[in-house]
Amino acid sequence: MTTIIDGKAFSANLRGELARRVGILKQNHSVTPGLAVVLVGEDPASQVYVRSKGKQTAEAGMKSVEHKLDAATSQEEVLKLIEALNNDPSIHGILVQLPLPKHIHEESVINSINIDKDVDGFHLSNVGRLSIGADGIVPCTPLGSIMMLKDHLGSLSGLKAIVLGRSNIVGKPMAALLLQESCTVTIAHSRTKDLAAECREADIVVAAVGRPEMVKGDWIKPGATVIDVGINRIQNTDGSTKLVGDVEFSSVSLVAGAITPVPGGVGPMTIACLLHNTLQQACRLNGVDVPE
Ligand code: GUN
Repeated sequence: MTTIIDGKAFSANLRGELARRVGILKQNHSVTPGLAVVLVGEDPASQVYVRSKGKQTAEAGMKSVEHKLDAATSQEEVLKLIEALNNDPSIHGILVQLPLPKHIHEESVINSINIDKDVDGFHLSNVGRLSIGADGIVPCTPLGSIMMLKDHLGSLSGLKAIVLGRSNIVGKPMAALLLQESCTVTIAHSRTKDLAAECREADIVVAAVGRPEMVKGDWIKPGATVIDVGINRIQNTDGSTKLVGDVEFSSVSLVAGAITPVPGGVGPMTIACLLHNTLQQACRLNGVDVPE
């Protein structure tokens, strides 16, 4: 029987646990974790994400601040806002929603965030820390994926893992985390010669390519654990739309030992991990331990 890894339940559990710890932090240290989200422009998908982030931040008992800026806002103005948030002691996490409008240089904006408030883990210093296995902030989607893998498999040591996709947000940090867990890691991408054959070797498959239902059942080693990071909206024959992952669920779920569904798998874990990172940094910036 294939296990369906329930990210919705896992994330609800994690958020409940975080809310409990936030309550203790407030009571014992009078610290309320604060998360600021910066959205530039009107990208509809980004607006949906930002709304969910704000709602779940407040539900966890944290302070949620949203800065919605016009698409024509200059880079200088965005940098000025980040500087103000860097200097605001009530803010412990700053997230700049990506993508930014073309006239704004993403890297310059991300690297202007105080590294201890970079709850996305995208700042070069946090990327560097992750690559050498030092303490730092870990990007939310890979962190959520690792949490689910460890919850399902226990130790990952010695397992063969393949990451499909080499993005800075998911593929590369995911590979670094799997390596930290002592997996033997392959990173595959659009130029990989025989993707199916590479996949069939793996005990763990993480798909993060943004191609709807690309991974098929005959690519999977029987019993492997499959983490589907993809969220793709496709059209049904009747014109309605639905969300699918990068994995063809119908065929892969017949072969895999465990699989995350889309929706309801990795997706809900991303915001839960953002709140996790915000609580960690609120404690660190205030010099207190994270409540037990
Ligand atoms: N856009 C899509 N995913 C993300 C994410 O994880 N963080 C940010 N800041 N923007 C995104």
